[in-house]
Amino acid sequence: MDLTGSLIKKYMSAYYITTPIYYPNAEPHAGNAYTTIAADVLARYHRLKGKDVCYLTGVDEHAANVYNAAKEEGLSPQAYCDKIAPTFVKLWERLNISHDIFFRTTSDLHKRGAQKFLNVLYDNGDVYKGKYEGYYCVSCEEFFSEKELTDDKVCPTHKLPLQWLEEENYFFRLSKYQERLLTHFHENPDFVYPETRRNELLNFLESGLQDVSISRASLPWGIPFPFDPKHIIYIWIEALSNYITALGYETENEEYQTFWPADVHIMGKDIARFHALLWPAMLMAANLPLPKQIVAHGWLTKDGEALSKTRGIFIDMDGNIDTYGVDAFRYYLLREFSFGNDGDYRPTRLHQRYNADLANDLGNLLNRVLGLVNKNFDGIPEPTTPGEFDEEIKQMAQKTSETLDAQMNTFAFDSALETIWEFVRRVNRYVQQTEVWTLTKPETKPRMGTILYNSLEALRFVSVLISPFIPDTAEKIQKQIGLSEFDSVADWGRLPTDLKVSKGEPIFPRVDLKKEKPQQKKETAKPKKKESEKKTDLISFADFQKMDLRVANVISAELIEGADRLLKLQVDLGTEKRQVVAGIAEHYKPDTLIGKQVIVVVNLEPATIRNVESHGMILAASGDSIVLASPETDVPLGTQVR
Ligand code: MSP
Repeated sequence: MDLTGSLIKKYMSAYYITTPIYYPNAEPHAGNAYTTIAADVLARYHRLKGKDVCYLTGVDEHAANVYNAAKEEGLSPQAYCDKIAPTFVKLWERLNISHDIFFRTTSDLHKRGAQKFLNVLYDNGDVYKGKYEGYYCVSCEEFFSEKELTDDKVCPTHKLPLQWLEEENYFFRLSKYQERLLTHFHENPDFVYPETRRNELLNFLESGLQDVSISRASLPWGIPFPFDPKHIIYIWIEALSNYITALGYETENEEYQTFWPADVHIMGKDIARFHALLWPAMLMAANLPLPKQIVAHGWLTKDGEALSKTRGIFIDMDGNIDTYGVDAFRYYLLREFSFGNDGDYRPTRLHQRYNADLANDLGNLLNRVLGLVNKNFDGIPEPTTPGEFDEEIKQMAQKTSETLDAQMNTFAFDSALETIWEFVRRVNRYVQQTEVWTLTKPETKPRMGTILYNSLEALRFVSVLISPFIPDTAEKIQKQIGLSEFDSVADWGRLPTDLKVSKGEPIFPRVDLKKEKPQQKKETAKPKKKESEKKTDLISFADFQKMDLRVANVISAELIEGADRLLKLQVDLGTEKRQVVAGIAEHYKPDTLIGKQVIVVVNLEPATIRNVESHGMILAASGDSIVLASPETDVPLGTQVR
C-alpha cells in the first residue's frame, strides 16, 4: 500500500464511514434502520462540508443463522440471500439512504479479499491450529466463556439455548495484541465513543484477552480457508474484513488507498467489542492502519425490550412512515434519543414531534412567511431597510452553524437538532416581534420587505443545516423559496432576490389519527383495560387529541357589568382574533393582562355568559387562587399546546 499517497489524500478530503453489515436471516428491522440512518446523516453532513465521502453498508451472508433460515424455507443459502438482500436495498431507498456501496459478502470481490487477508495473518504467524470446545450462540455467532454462562445456558441477548460445539480449529493470536491495544486506547482517548463504552471495553481489555477460534469445520456455508479448504473462515473474521475488501483490498486499488483507514465505524453497542478489540488486533497483525473511531450507539427498544428478529419484537416502520413520511421518522429517531443510550420507540412521541417541531415550528413558519411575501410583494423583496433584531438573527444563524459542527463531531444528533430548532423558534419570534404583517403602509413596506427577506434567508439557512437529517424537507423548502438548484452553503445573505416564491403547500400536512391505517392502529392501540381501570375516568389519547389548545395574546380586557368574577377578553391567535369570557376577575386586574400569553381551548363550542358571547376558554390553575397557564417563554401566536 502506498501509505504516503493514501495519507495525503485522506487528510485532504476523504471520509469513509461504515455501518455493520447486517445478517440477512430475515428482512431488516428498525434497529438496523436506526444505525443506517445515523450513518447516513454523517455521510451527508461530511459531503456538505466538502468531503469526498464513501459510505459503505451491506449484508453479512455467511452466517449460521442465515444457513438455518434458508433450510427452514427449503432454499439454498445463496438463493435465500438473493431473496433477502434486496429487501435491505429497498428499505434503504425508502429511508433515503445515500450509501455509496451496498456490499454483499457472497461477492467474489469479498471472497478473494477475505482469503488474502487470512493468508497475510497466517504468513505473519498469527494463526495456529488447536482444539476448541464451548457453548455457542448461533444468533450472536459467538462462543461464551465459563464465566459468562448462566445456569440455564441460554444466550443473554437472544434467550435461546446455547449449543455445545467441539472442533479442531484455527486460532488467531489475539492475546499477543493486548498491550498494543491498551497503548492505542490510552494514546487515542477518542478511539471509542461514547466514553462509557470505551471504559467498559478498557476494563475488558485490562482483564486479559484470549486467543480466538477463527475457523469452523462443521458448517458447509462460508468462505474456505485459503490454506486448508476443509475449514471455513469464522464469520466475524470474515465479516470485519468487509470494511477493506469492499474498497478493493484484494488489489489495493486507488479506492482502497484513498479511503482506508475508515474515519468512523458506526454500530450498536452489542458489537462494539468485535470492532474495538478484535478488528484492530487483526489490522495490527496485517500491518494495516486502524480505523479512527468506533462509535457504538444504544439500542432501540419496544416497550423496554430489545428488538429481535428471532423473538418477533418489532416496530411498524412501514405504517409509521406511511402516516408521517420518511423525514419525520428520521427526525424522530435522531431528535428523541441520545445516540449512545438506549431509547424506547413510541409512536405517540413521533406524533407529538411531528406536530410540534415539524408541522408547527418549521412548517408553519415557512407557510406564514411565503403567504406574506405572496400577498405583499412580487417575488423576494430587497433587504433595503435594516432594523431591530436583524443583526441578532444573522449572528444567531452563524452561531447555530458553528455549534452544530461541534455537536456533529461528538455524534450528539439530538442536541444538534435542538440547536437548529432554537434558531427556528427564534425566527418565528422575529416575525412575531416585528409584527411584520402590519407593515403594509407605503412608508413601512421597505421594512416589511427586509424582515421577510431575512426570514426567507433564515429558512434557506435552516434548510442547509437540516439537509443531512431530513433531506427531502430541505429540498422542499428551497423549492418553495424559489431556488431551482439546492444551495448548500451555510453563509448568511446568499439568497438572491430575483426569485419567484411558490404558493407554499404545507410541508408537514396535519395528520389526523382517526384516518390511521388499521395495522398502525394495532401498533399504537392501548392494551385492553383491566376491570379496575375501567372505573377511573381515563380518556383515550384519541379523545385528548380532539382538544385544540393554542397560545394567544391578550389584546384587551374589561369587566363584565354585574358580574364580579368575569372578564371579557379579546385575544389574538395569530391567524384570528376572538372574544373569550374568563372567570378570573377576582385575581387579575384587566390592564395587567394586556400583552400576556395565555392558552386557549379554541375548539370549545361557543357559549353566551351574562349576555356576552365566549368563543373558547382560557386555561388556569384553579385552586385557592386562580393562576393563568402560559408558556414558559413567549412562543409564536397560534402555537399548539400538547
Ligand atoms: N453481521 C453482524 C455485524 C457484522 S459487522 C462486520 C451483526 N448483524 S446484525 O444483523 O445482528 O446487526 C447488528 C446491528 O444492527 C447492530 O450492531 C446495530 O447496529 C443494529 N441493531 C440491531 N438491533 C438493534 C436495536 N434494537 N437497536 C439499535 N440497533 C440495533 O451483528
